[in-house]
Amino acid sequence: MDDLKFNKLAAAFLLALLLAMGGYKLSEIMIPHQELAQNSYPIEVTEVASASSEVAAPAGPEPILALLAGADIAAGQKTAKKCTACHVFKEGGANKVGPVLWNVVNADMGKIDGFAYSDVLAGFGGIWDYQSLNQFLYKPKAYMKGTKMNFAGLKKPSDRANIIAYLRSLSAAPVALPTAEQIAAASSQ
Ligand code: HEC
Repeated sequence: MDDLKFNKLAAAFLLALLLAMGGYKLSEIMIPHQELAQNSYPIEVTEVASASSEVAAPAGPEPILALLAGADIAAGQKTAKKCTACHVFKEGGANKVGPVLWNVVNADMGKIDGFAYSDVLAGFGGIWDYQSLNQFLYKPKAYMKGTKMNFAGLKKPSDRANIIAYLRSLSAAPVALPTAEQIAAASSQ
């Protein structure tokens, strides 16, 4: 190979190399590398896992007795906005879609005058103590099959504890908070 040919080849090679490098740099400038906020194909591993574990063992509501003493009544009142489409919370308040909820903790179930309860609630028998309220508010239609309270339920234990503490406060003489023995007995069930 003569010198000229060699030089031409070397120049072509270098030029190709430069173009390749330049192109690479250019693409980096034009398409900045970005961290994705989330996978472009979200992989919902946890949801799948929890769904299948629910099938295996249907989870009931966690006990809330231990949470009541430290519950946040103001937060409960906020959560109760989910109920106000159907319930009034005032003493002497009117029944709406649902019965008035003044003085409901430890009250007889289905006993508000002038409210047309479903057969299941009217005949359930029992009182709205902390535990039955916890069960009912977790999933009304599971606790009381056939109730006409169309409400999905409050899945967070703290939401139920706060709202039950709020309901407890809606009384001229709020019932006692659960004792340590009652809390222990409920959590060992
Ligand atoms: C879509 C309307 C609706 C919503 C929302 C709703 N309820 Fe009700 N609730 C009802 C109806 C209707 C009944 C009567 C059920 C029956 O007769 O089966 C009822 C009954 C009750 C009872 C039983 C009262 C009694 O006198 O025995 C309680 C306690 C209660 N609701 C609490 C709540 C709370 C707390 C919320 C909010 C977290 C809520 N409800 C949200 C409609 C509703």
